[in-house]
Amino acid sequence: MKFSKLLILLALAISSSGFSQELRQFGIIPYPEHETPQKGTYKLPTEISYTTNYTAEDLKDLQQYLPNYPLKLKAQQGKAVLEINLTGTPQDIQKGREAASNGEYLPLEDEGYTLSIARKHIKIESPTTRGAFYALQTLAKLAEDGKGIVPITTITDKPRFKYRGLHLDVSRHFFDIDFLKKQIDLLCTYKINRIHWHLTDTHGWRLEIPAYPKLTELSAWRTASDINEWAEKKSTFCTKDDSQAYGGYYTADDVKELVEYARLRHVTIIPEIEIPGHSWEVVSAYPELSCDDEPGYRNEVCIGNEKTFRFFETVLDEVTRLFPSHYIHIGGDEASRMHWKKCSLCQARIKEENLNGEDELQSYIIKRMEKYLNSKGRNIIGWDEILDGGLAPNATVMSWRGTDGGVKAAKMKHNVIMTPNVHCYFDMYQDIPETQPKAFAYVVSLDNVYAYDPAPKEFGEEFGKYILGVQGNTWTEWIASGSHAEYMIYPRIIAISEVGWSQMNRRDAENFKERITREIKRVLHKGYNAFPLSPYVKSKQQIDRENKCIELSLSAERSDVQIHYTMDSEDTTPTINSPIYSEPFIVKDSVKVYAQLFENGTPIGTPLYIRADYHKAIGKSITYNEKCDYYHKDKRYTGGGDTALIDGIRGSISYADGKWQGFCPNNMDVTIDLGEVTGVHYIKANFAQCKNVGANLPEKVEIYGSVDGKRYMLIATDEPTEEEKLKETTFKEMGWTGDRMRIRYIRYQAKQAKPQYMFCDEIVIQ
Ligand code: ACM
Repeated sequence: MKFSKLLILLALAISSSGFSQELRQFGIIPYPEHETPQKGTYKLPTEISYTTNYTAEDLKDLQQYLPNYPLKLKAQQGKAVLEINLTGTPQDIQKGREAASNGEYLPLEDEGYTLSIARKHIKIESPTTRGAFYALQTLAKLAEDGKGIVPITTITDKPRFKYRGLHLDVSRHFFDIDFLKKQIDLLCTYKINRIHWHLTDTHGWRLEIPAYPKLTELSAWRTASDINEWAEKKSTFCTKDDSQAYGGYYTADDVKELVEYARLRHVTIIPEIEIPGHSWEVVSAYPELSCDDEPGYRNEVCIGNEKTFRFFETVLDEVTRLFPSHYIHIGGDEASRMHWKKCSLCQARIKEENLNGEDELQSYIIKRMEKYLNSKGRNIIGWDEILDGGLAPNATVMSWRGTDGGVKAAKMKHNVIMTPNVHCYFDMYQDIPETQPKAFAYVVSLDNVYAYDPAPKEFGEEFGKYILGVQGNTWTEWIASGSHAEYMIYPRIIAISEVGWSQMNRRDAENFKERITREIKRVLHKGYNAFPLSPYVKSKQQIDRENKCIELSLSAERSDVQIHYTMDSEDTTPTINSPIYSEPFIVKDSVKVYAQLFENGTPIGTPLYIRADYHKAIGKSITYNEKCDYYHKDKRYTGGGDTALIDGIRGSISYADGKWQGFCPNNMDVTIDLGEVTGVHYIKANFAQCKNVGANLPEKVEIYGSVDGKRYMLIATDEPTEEEKLKETTFKEMGWTGDRMRIRYIRYQAKQAKPQYMFCDEIVIQ
């Protein structure tokens, strides 16, 4: 599509979704549901007088929050600039107040509001103080963006989903209460309403439990900060006064302070206690809670032993005493069955309870814990593994291994919170891995997050209604400091806020780009170490099989930059005089492009090299030779099936984008038949290396050619350099280019150094 056509379509999309120039110009995230803009603006006074019909209790809460509110509000009797009216019944208002701490779900309308801005008069109406609080946030954002000048408009707004959360793992690294408060200060301005506090895990227990003091005397303090180094020290814990002690924990007072701070900002703190896996820190402090096979490292508790149940019940007693949240997360993820299989007590439990193996054993403990919490008037949330072996009757499922678990649970009429890792994991890279601090696995860019729809139309009303919301997950294996955590959280959580709040017809990636470009500067200015958006050009290739071409488009994450490029030239560094990118390239053969962003005429980042090929193998046949098959066990790594390596669709900088083909544990050995003897001068395949998931470049590739499919000759071999082999994450095109030769069959073999994962896409033949 031509760029001009695209622009027209974009303009149509914008006008049909009702974006007013006025509100776009003023930029607000998350984008509201509806607005009726009028002409003109209103310069807010430096002190805004307000009246309200709040109850005394609600007014006290508001006044406690106001010193933290960016606009200066002053209560006034009689006529005031700002009028805040609660329109709900006394019961609605009370439910709204209680929901701030207990996290019970409010009807969407009750989180909604109307904000009417006229000249010298602003009116907020909402059924609850939650909605009024959000109206205040919208007003503050407009004022912030307009430097005190707000548009004359009426905004009617409510969320799309009830649950809009951020998860923070404080086990792998400990973050203090001040850090959490600082995040809540900002998150509430985006109408995020849940913090999922991952308090316990292998690497440290973070909540003081008086009945089990060793959890925090020992298991809150590990013997090394770096988790690999700690693993080398046999994952041992120590006491706080040990010279190598690294960690921390929260006291009951810390928890109370945070819960109250969050409540005043309409954020509920949901604690997570991991059961039964991710529990090395538990069994390390209390070995009697582990299985009775050989001693040593294990990450699961024994489910055959009643002591385990007494332990978790006591822990949950304290948790429910400290946390008013109706929902308690009890983990359930990634428990190995290894020790249970060999443990006499676990096996006796399986027999006694007539359970069908270890999956049902895990389900047994989850169900028992659910029953216990239900008896205390609480409900559980668990990771999607709680579906295995039978779902606990009242559980909410948090879908993280993609969305299948969430869909399955919704079909079983269970509530679901969507956190699929490819869209919602903030421990993943957010830009070209080699340019970023060490992170986990693949790339979850801002675009990936923003593109996510937690309840697409095909779910239908019947199942879609069980999708309660969305959450960004911040696992901290590689995130040791608050400033690094902020870097990983922002801007991605801001995209989550719009995914969770705004209707699909109000979401617009181009418009979001403009708003986030402005917003992220403000976030940085407020003292948060946000990722300042990518300084690199992004590229996308779309294949058009009918017209035998590739459409190569370039883009940027920021709206305040231009893309300059060179094409098929020796000049690998575009300058300000190089052409400006304005529309996609149509590639019938091969092109090499170097593209770079410029901000105010100055280059930023480094040039991006992109190669696009409508190559000779596209649409031809490929066979997987003996003992070579790609990794069918996980559909993310099939690349789309048997033709993935020569379909013209290239894997991106994220090996989990569904386009890469994974080989595990075997080598790759494929033969491509070009259909007829053809002149060939280029045979290369692209591989991805991602060491922290065990994916490496091949140790060696060998390429053979044949005219008749019987007699093959070696064309070339290729190997990564020692330096490339050591890189944490990298991509490499491996193969041959040389004088044109005439062949029909190409056999491409890629050998792994040891049987692990190898990702390939695409094999390009020119
Ligand atoms: C998870 O990421 N293990 C829930």
